[in-house]
Amino acid sequence: MSTSFIQISDCHIDDEKMVMDVDSVANLENILNHIKSRTFDALLVSGDLTHNGTPSAYKKLQEQLKVVDVDIHVMPGNHDDKRNLSQAFETELQNVIQLGDWQIITLDSVQVNKVSGFLTKEQLLFLEEAISETHAKYSVVCLHHPIVPMRSDWDDELSLENPEDLFSIIDKHSNVKAVLWGHAHQSEVFDYNDIKLYSCPSTALQFNGPGSIGYNHYTLHSDGKIACETRWL
Ligand SMILES: [Fe+2]
Repeated sequence: MSTSFIQISDCHIDDEKMVMDVDSVANLENILNHIKSRTFDALLVSGDLTHNGTPSAYKKLQEQLKVVDVDIHVMPGNHDDKRNLSQAFETELQNVIQLGDWQIITLDSVQVNKVSGFLTKEQLLFLEEAISETHAKYSVVCLHHPIVPMRSDWDDELSLENPEDLFSIIDKHSNVKAVLWGHAHQSEVFDYNDIKLYSCPSTALQFNGPGSIGYNHYTLHSDGKIACETRWL
C-alpha cells in the first residue's frame, strides 16, 4: 500500500494583485486546477503562503484552497506572519502528520526579521521527539529553508543557518527518508546518505528558471522508498 501527498510552496498571495511582477493568485489557481484532478492524501504548503502576512491575504489563500478536498498542512516562511498564519489555519507552527506507515514532521525555521532560517532548541527537540517516539515506520521532515547548498545562483547565506543541528538528529535515526523545503523557488533533488532531499518549486515564480510554475507530488511506499514527481505548468 502506498500513500501520497502534494507539496506546494511560496505562493506569495498578497493584497496587491501583482507580486514580484507576477499575478500570484492566478498562478496558484492554475496549480490548484491541475492538482485537484489528482489523487493524493494530503497537501503541504511549505511557507511564504503570503507575501506580507496580512490576515486578508491568508483569507484570500484559504478561499483558493477550498478546491482541494484533503487535509491541508502549513508551515511559516520568512514572508509570513506567524501569528496571522496560525490563527487563519488554527494550527501550531510545527506539526506531525500521520500518513499510513509514514509521518511528516513540519518545522518552524523562521527567524524574526531575517530572511535566513534557524532551528531553535525547541524545534530541534520537537523533531527529535517526533522521530524517536513515533509508531510510524518512516519519517519525512519539511521546513521552509534549504539545508544544503543549492548548487545554483541562489544565495546559500539565505538558507538554514544551522543545518548541522538538523543533520545531527536525522543521522541518528534511520527512519528518516526525506527532507523537503521551499524558499529557493527552484526544483532540485539531492542525495544525503540514504535520505532524499527535495527543493520544491514556487507556485508564483522561479528565481532561477524555468519560467513556469510547479509543485511536487510524492509517493510514499510501504518499503520506505519515496518517489517525487515535479510537475511544471
Ligand atoms: Fe518565497
